[in-house]
Amino acid sequence: MKNKLLIIGASGHGKVVADIALKMNRWQSIAFLDDNKGIETSMGLEVIGTSDDVFTHIDEYEIFVGIGNNTTRQRIHEMVETVGASIPVLVHPDAVVGGQVNIGNGTVVMAGSIINCCTDIGKGCVINTGTTIDHDNCIGDYVHISPGVHLAGTVKIGEGSWLGIGSVVSNNINITSGCQFGAGSVVVKDVNYPGTYAGVPIRKIK
Ligand SMILES: CC(C)(COP(=O)(O)OP(=O)(O)OC[C@H]1O[C@@H](n2cnc3c(N)ncnc32)[C@H](O)[C@@H]1OP(=O)(O)O)[C@@H](O)C(=O)NCCC(=O)NCCS
Repeated sequence: MKNKLLIIGASGHGKVVADIALKMNRWQSIAFLDDNKGIETSMGLEVIGTSDDVFTHIDEYEIFVGIGNNTTRQRIHEMVETVGASIPVLVHPDAVVGGQVNIGNGTVVMAGSIINCCTDIGKGCVINTGTTIDHDNCIGDYVHISPGVHLAGTVKIGEGSWLGIGSVVSNNINITSGCQFGAGSVVVKDVNYPGTYAGVPIRKIK
């Protein structure tokens, strides 16, 4: 384990990631990379270069991708993974994680979230503020669960899907890869086709 952390992305999502890393009190030094050369500091932490500079830092720093967009986060996560970077899991001290929960590298679990027992969460996921994920869920890689989402028991969500703020998924539901759900969506049947869905219950809007 290295005692320095480098977060790629210094804007909104990256700032929350940095705040969690600071509260974890595990790294002696935390810095950012950001492609906007106009940002010199964020959250009081220094921006020491752009994402292209990551290769020069992987021996010294653990690397975490602090970008909210699923596609961009996946692309950069895979790049740093390929070159052998050490990628941590970030869990806010005020999140509750049950027994036999597995969480993949590069995933952040934000404040107030509750993940119940026997759930698997993939790599590069965002488990955003105040979500509840109940028992025996299986969350694929690079999924984003927005603030205040509730997933009942035995829910399966495919890679790269995104649930908008305040969405609810009933128990035993399977959602395929590449889906987007609008704010406040309620999902009560399996979703087998990628697309954009919204409403109560959901309908396909795109
Ligand atoms: C679903 C979403 C992504 C669609 O955005 P968009 O592609 O720009 O879609 P539009 O705004 O053009 O809406 C298309 C239609 O869907 C409807 N719609 C959009 N979002 C909806 C929602 N959350 N619930 C119900 N209907 C919705 C619109 O009213 C519109 O209907 P109409 O064609 O009858 O007028 C967006 O509306 C949304 O809900 N985003 C959630 C944001 C969020 O959770 N952020 C948290 C980040 S941490």
